[in-house]
Amino acid sequence: MTLDRLIGEFDRALRAVAGVAHSGRPSPAEKIGETSLREEEKAHAAALMRVNHVGEVCAQALYQGQALTARDAGARQALEKAAREEEDHLAWSAERIRELGGRPSLLNPLWYAGAFAMGAAAGVLGDRWNLAFLAETERQVEEHLTGHLEALPQDDRRTRAVVEAMRADEARHRASALELGAAELPEPVKRAMRAASKVMTTVAYRV
Ligand SMILES: [Fe+2]
Ligand SMILES: [Fe+2]
Repeated sequence: MTLDRLIGEFDRALRAVAGVAHSGRPSPAEKIGETSLREEEKAHAAALMRVNHVGEVCAQALYQGQALTARDAGARQALEKAAREEEDHLAWSAERIRELGGRPSLLNPLWYAGAFAMGAAAGVLGDRWNLAFLAETERQVEEHLTGHLEALPQDDRRTRAVVEAMRADEARHRASALELGAAELPEPVKRAMRAASKVMTTVAYRV
């Protein structure tokens, strides 16, 4: 690995944790007018977006850990493309949190470190398992975003637009991981991932 690449990855990690991501694509909320929400609706939407933002911080770390260990050039390219889209998600959700008057999770460095370790561990097992872990992550995120669309205030069209666009991207990420030859994870691993994400989402809703 070249020094340039290492510095690039480190820079990306810092930006993910600090919540200053650059988006390549404009936010899906851009052309949608703000609706007036009650204070508790705003706080609830901001907290849900904080959870999503943590998810995207973890996605950065996972993809980074995996792009570093992926052996196959095709897999690495697909991982890098998805990682750029995850960076859009990171920027969009951070922006929406600010608009709603909330703040990102204080525990972001911790979430990042945990996800990076998991991504790197999956990477060590080889591309098939790397991709399997990714595909399952994307599937769980997709489910999770569907839940948020039900929980978000109906009138909050800006937040909903962001969540819907993210969900569509995650579905494509999963499909591309499967196309690249992802294995199917054993059930207990899927359950453990679900349990870890439950802890993350519960804590991140508050902190
Ligand atoms: Fe994402
Ligand atoms: Fe994704």
